[in-house]
Amino acid sequence: MLIKKRRGWELPESAATPESVFINRRQLIKSVAAGTALIASGPFFVSRAAQAAQPWDDDPSLGLYPFQRNENYVLDRAITDEETNAKWNNFYEFGSHKQIFRNARKLRDRPWTIKVDGLVEKEFEIGIDDLLAKMPLEERLYRLRCVEAWSMTIPWSGFPLKAFVDFARPLSSAKFLKMVTFNDSKMASGQKQFWYPWAYTEAVTMEEAVNELAFLVTGTYGHPSPPQHGAPLRLALPWKYGFKSVKSIVSFTFTDERPIGFWEEIQSKEYGFWANVNPEVPHPRWSQATEKILGTGDRVPTLLYNGYGEFVADMYADKANEPLFM
Ligand code: MTE
Repeated sequence: MLIKKRRGWELPESAATPESVFINRRQLIKSVAAGTALIASGPFFVSRAAQAAQPWDDDPSLGLYPFQRNENYVLDRAITDEETNAKWNNFYEFGSHKQIFRNARKLRDRPWTIKVDGLVEKEFEIGIDDLLAKMPLEERLYRLRCVEAWSMTIPWSGFPLKAFVDFARPLSSAKFLKMVTFNDSKMASGQKQFWYPWAYTEAVTMEEAVNELAFLVTGTYGHPSPPQHGAPLRLALPWKYGFKSVKSIVSFTFTDERPIGFWEEIQSKEYGFWANVNPEVPHPRWSQATEKILGTGDRVPTLLYNGYGEFVADMYADKANEPLFM
């Protein structure tokens, strides 16, 4: 993968421009692009740009990428090929199968406002591009282990959840951080399936939220995230099963009551609050001993805490009686 490093003098436009100006610029680019396509498209001609367009091409944060890689997080296996990663996803808002990437293009990720409320000094809202301008941006290589026994290795771009927590200024009475996905069945037809408890919700303890591994993701493979990965802001908790890594977050609530997650609400005997990866604790319907590395055909042994025990095991030393591995 080609990683282009931005030099100090290349100040990204979004670092100096308020989000509203960016959005207008983005709308302008879209209108111009639409106009060009109309003029150019006859029965025998379709604009090449329109054919080649990637979902992130007109993302207002594009100029910030790629972020500098943080070399503290090393992998024991190759990075998953980008196309494999982009075409095998769980995002039930856009369908309950794995090939939701086309449908997910309906996600409108600008303007995107994030609400911070609950046990904080002061509740507030912030646009995603204004938030990006305030956060310490970096790239990390992480493994992702799904509870369905497949895994990938991904270069995530984003910032530590701890930096966001510090910015949000929670009160000392906050014990949990709850994160919620958008709820808009006109945009995401999966949300018409009324038997699911929308909106998708997940939560962590405050100790987990400030653990150095907890990461908020805005991009993949050196560019803004495509919609199927949960643009423009999703969580990555590499020591937990993938369902904890909630996508397309619109709100962060600090609370003293343990929230119930989407899957926990559907089936609490199968999906719990902690959901730490453990090969020795099978899911009620399948073993967790091994995992299929997508894109390789390899099946390898799964590791306790997905191999991240040195960063996280201490947090659970006094919680032996909790169902930590479901
Ligand atoms: N977030 C939302 N909002 N909706 C979902 O369906 N699926 C979860 C998680 N986050 C999901 C979600 C599951 S089960 C997994 S394994 C990961 O997203 C998959 O992330 P990926 O598609 O980027 O690989």
